Amino acid sequence: MRKRIAIFASGSGSNAQKIMEHFKYSDSSEVALVLSNNPEAFVLQRADNFEIPTHVFDRHDFYESDEVVNLLKRLDIDLVVLAGFLWLVPDNLLKAFPNKIINIHPALLPKFGGKGMYGDKVHKAVLAAGEEEHGITIHFVNENFDEGEVIYQAKFRVEPGDTLEVIKFNGQQLEHLHYPKVIENLLKKYN
Ligand code: GRF
Repeated sequence: MRKRIAIFASGSGSNAQKIMEHFKYSDSSEVALVLSNNPEAFVLQRADNFEIPTHVFDRHDFYESDEVVNLLKRLDIDLVVLAGFLWLVPDNLLKAFPNKIINIHPALLPKFGGKGMYGDKVHKAVLAAGEEEHGITIHFVNENFDEGEVIYQAKFRVEPGDTLEVIKFNGQQLEHLHYPKVIENLLKKYN
């Protein structure tokens, strides 16, 4: 049976898009479900375009019930992939999927991570710190924002005069290139 991926996203979902494209014709894995806390998230439209089922939940469902965990179990999900998902993952979900929840962060962790460090704030902080290199991190998820074990990092040089738009674009290119492949490699290790 193909390994089954669930993607959690809160917004646009450009990474989710790349992952859905990557696994669309895969013999080994598939995206089985896309979940969001945001009913307006564009990622839901993207999932519809791939005819992948979606599920929207609210704070109560996520933090005060087992609804989401039960759904993931019922659908035999093997790997939970966070792609621009802004809420902290609750304990019941971490326990149900030990070492099976991963996230992508648009910086070289442990730098520029933690609560509130997302989107443009990350890139602005990188420029303000005068960093000479920047990049992305794919990591396991634990109970704290951006702190789980690192699985993969990719870097690029920040050139003098680079703007926020430039470094954001460079990072996105790396995310889109590497996240689907890292997921595929991880899933190969599961029996
Ligand atoms: C990405 O930069 C990712 O690193 C971060 O959130 C962003 C999501 O972008 N966790 P998108 O919704 O995939 O376009």
